Amino acid sequence: MNAGEIAHLDSSVPNRAISGSDMIDRESNVSPSGLGILIENGKFRTITDSQSLQDEFAPDWDGKETSYDHTIIDAKSCAIIPGLIDSHTHLIWSGDRSSEMRLRQSGMTYRQISERGGGIRHTVSSTRALSIQDMVSIGLSRANEAARYGTCALEAKSGYGLDLETELRLLESTSLVSNNSDVSIFPTWLGAHDFPHELDRSDYIDDLLTNQLPKVSEQGIANWCDVFCEEGWYTNEETELIVNQAKDFGLGSRLHVDEFVDTEGLSLAADLGSVSADHVAKSNHDSRQKASDAGTMQTFLPGTPYVLGAELNLPFSDCIENGWPFSLATDFNPNCRILSLPFVSNLCCTRMGLDPLASLIASTVNPATTLNDDSITGKIAEGLSANLNIVWSRDIDGWCQTPGENPFSHSIISGNIVKS
Ligand code: NIG
Ligand code: FE
Repeated sequence: MNAGEIAHLDSSVPNRAISGSDMIDRESNVSPSGLGILIENGKFRTITDSQSLQDEFAPDWDGKETSYDHTIIDAKSCAIIPGLIDSHTHLIWSGDRSSEMRLRQSGMTYRQISERGGGIRHTVSSTRALSIQDMVSIGLSRANEAARYGTCALEAKSGYGLDLETELRLLESTSLVSNNSDVSIFPTWLGAHDFPHELDRSDYIDDLLTNQLPKVSEQGIANWCDVFCEEGWYTNEETELIVNQAKDFGLGSRLHVDEFVDTEGLSLAADLGSVSADHVAKSNHDSRQKASDAGTMQTFLPGTPYVLGAELNLPFSDCIENGWPFSLATDFNPNCRILSLPFVSNLCCTRMGLDPLASLIASTVNPATTLNDDSITGKIAEGLSANLNIVWSRDIDGWCQTPGENPFSHSIISGNIVKS
């Protein structure tokens, strides 16, 4: 009842991203205050003016009484936004990389820290020691934390096993987390995250292609494969080989590209038909145009340059001017412990001039189009799955303006109240 603005974002045809000036068009994406929402069986049943909803379902409601068939939430003129969608996380791993901060401050790069035994391979040793139960409990507590920050669906990568058994265990535990959490979880196999210390490069690639990939496909949990395609890690040629083989096993791809150096990774992702190319901080104009033409989503991960102490200068205005669709995600990982999309958006809006509505679309509708699941839309409209967050402010813009506080008073996933 008594909603402030509602960012329904229902301005695009189903499963189509919103781009260009439509990302800042309030008229077609936001309803004025005064509406109420009726949720039934996990879906938005009716969205209409608050008073008529009250007249029909809670005529004597005094603002407190809740002894009706429906639970009543008084939004008190606060804004409502859709459930958020985090399309890039490394959800399950264990270990402590806090010492890397001092190494960075002494001038070492991410690559130099990795070459000294830190980085991904450091996390691999502690993650391999985890039982499946350990993994599930770590994953569940992180998924619940993400839900408290308004996330209703997230993509989760393996990639801290780098051997068959651990990669399969990571994927299996991801699926168990999904079955036991309100958050919908979409698993990705990231065997090609790094090279394990016990095998040389070509032996590991052979292991990926002839051992891990067939077993991952047989296990049937992963929806996509991912490769860390970056100078110092996987080359474009190796990436192409892995993605094409994965395609033969029925796996689509979402890739890590052009994080530190433009290797034309985004252009490669477009050629390979990847559903999403992530980081893309250094990609060039032509690759961005090509990705847009090919339907490959550009997913920016501003939390990573932020924690690495790098410059925050992602090309949001170019994307909007050129009509290139883009998404935002947390990249939650051992180095970037951010499960809050409102915080990621705060960085974009306060440091890179992104409009809060565009930022919201990039955290809802646009990533939803990469997940290939009709129940995850990032929109609020009758008939859709009831995922929403009530914001502290009257205007929807408040959703990303509390960097150190949770901006939501209530969060609902599939009709269940997960935060109140
Ligand atoms: O997306 N760059 C590759 N993977 C992660 C970081 C992984 C790590 O540092 O443990 C990323 O930033
Ligand atoms: Fe990542």
